[in-house]
Amino acid sequence: MGMDAEAFVRDLDARNQALLRRLAPEATLKPEVAGDLSVVNLLKVALKNEIEATESAARWLATTAEIDVKLALARQVGDEAKHYRLIADRLHELGFDARGFDPLAKGYGPLFQYLDGLRTTVERIAAGQFTREAIAVVKNRQFIEFCEAAGDQATARLYRDVIEPDEHHHHELGRRLLLRYATTPDTQEAARRAATRTLELAEELQGMALRTGGIHHAPGC
Ligand SMILES: [Fe+2]
Ligand SMILES: [Fe+2]
Repeated sequence: MGMDAEAFVRDLDARNQALLRRLAPEATLKPEVAGDLSVVNLLKVALKNEIEATESAARWLATTAEIDVKLALARQVGDEAKHYRLIADRLHELGFDARGFDPLAKGYGPLFQYLDGLRTTVERIAAGQFTREAIAVVKNRQFIEFCEAAGDQATARLYRDVIEPDEHHHHELGRRLLLRYATTPDTQEAARRAATRTLELAEELQGMALRTGGIHHAPGC
């Protein structure tokens, strides 16, 4: 039996939030002034997330039929590209010139690849907007705390005042579109599967970043 769309989205949100708690670190970790874990290094990770989010939404924009979804993706493309530019500008202020930096030099990440393989509109909305952007909101809140602990109020402000509200808006776009398109048992099952896989990948990636690069508190997108 399928639920009505409103009950379905409420249920999916609750499942996502339960899994998202696993992405929260156990304790606030201290920024390293000299080591790898610095605001600059985390902003470089952010550039990769932003360009991947821009391109993922742009590819879907061209291969999605529904006009309201196209428009939501178009808005997202613009926002993620704007985030890239703002972060590059902030890196410049911090002494890193991002113009010669290619965040995709080592290729696209596994989450991008997974999202790029999704073919149906409902999976794309559930994974790329509703879930990925919920992850971004959690990660950005952690990153803002990290910036404040590092004494970097300007980066904290950029995330709090500009980037985080946009990511939250993307999540809300996902919610609105799911209410319209996740209306049958089949579409709801596909949406649930895509959301779960997105969270699993995010958790795996976070664990890998911590083990291999000592990276945590990286912002999301
Ligand atoms: Fe976003
Ligand atoms: Fe973004």
